[in-house]
Amino acid sequence: MEGKRKVDAPTAPAESSVRTLLVIGIGAGSPEHLTLQAVDALRRLDVVFFLDKAGPGKDALVAARRAALARARPEGGVREVVAESPERDWEPGAYRQGIARWRDARLALFRRFVTRDMGEGEVGGLLVWGDPCLYDGTLQILDDLIAEGVPLDYQVIPGISAVQALTARHRLPLNRIGEPIAITTARQLADAEPSQIHNTVVMLDGRAAFRALAQEDLEIYWGAYLGTQDEVLVAGRLADKAEEIAERIEAERARHGWIMDTYLLRRPKPA
Ligand SMILES: C[S@@+](CC[C@H](N)C(=O)[O-])C[C@H]1O[C@@H](n2cnc3c(N)ncnc32)[C@H](O)[C@@H]1O
Repeated sequence: MEGKRKVDAPTAPAESSVRTLLVIGIGAGSPEHLTLQAVDALRRLDVVFFLDKAGPGKDALVAARRAALARARPEGGVREVVAESPERDWEPGAYRQGIARWRDARLALFRRFVTRDMGEGEVGGLLVWGDPCLYDGTLQILDDLIAEGVPLDYQVIPGISAVQALTARHRLPLNRIGEPIAITTARQLADAEPSQIHNTVVMLDGRAAFRALAQEDLEIYWGAYLGTQDEVLVAGRLADKAEEIAERIEAERARHGWIMDTYLLRRPKPA
């Protein structure tokens, strides 16, 4: 694989000065999403890093990570390092620069985690929401640190993503026979050609971007707070459900102060 380090089987690195990070997918909201591999990984940790994000929902997200850790290690014994997560700059028109600044700040934070907060030969854990390989920047940051020469090795433990949580709860095969699936963001959905949407999962929305497609012949399978006690599911013809779901999003956001939702847009197959 060009530009990427070769990934070996998950064994301890040879040099003791190398710090090992386990990037552990903890699932999309329920501690019961933890895989046995994730539980084993959590049990190996000397130190765990929590990123405390400012803003709505932060307490719930940190609490979910703590619950996952407690489920795997009820006896405790892991050193915790809690750091303020750098804030994204949401200024309109400066999207790319905002992302670059945010990445630099996260890089500095992770450098500190590895070089200051971990001892030689220690194993640290980053608990990533859902699956670490889906819409998450952690792996890129770790690759950047390694490229800088930081003595670090990492392994990835896959997790149940919001996509799997959504399709399981709707009892819906993600793909249909002989048809591709797409996974995208609300931002990109806005630029998509509506007639090209056949089977598309949308993440990172929260603002009901599907409303712009309400005139299309599409079905929607929507879920918010999947895997948690507050889970909400709605499914049906988009034209019939778009307003109902949009109102639900606002009501739930008002109730919790934040929302995380994922949905599948699917064009019915001709009879
Ligand atoms: C930054 S992405 C992280 C995705 C994550 N790595 C995964 O594998 O699901 C955050 C987005 O994931 C989706 N998401 C994550 N957890 C969710 C949940 N419990 N219920 C609904 N959507 C969720 C939402 O679309 C949210 O905007």
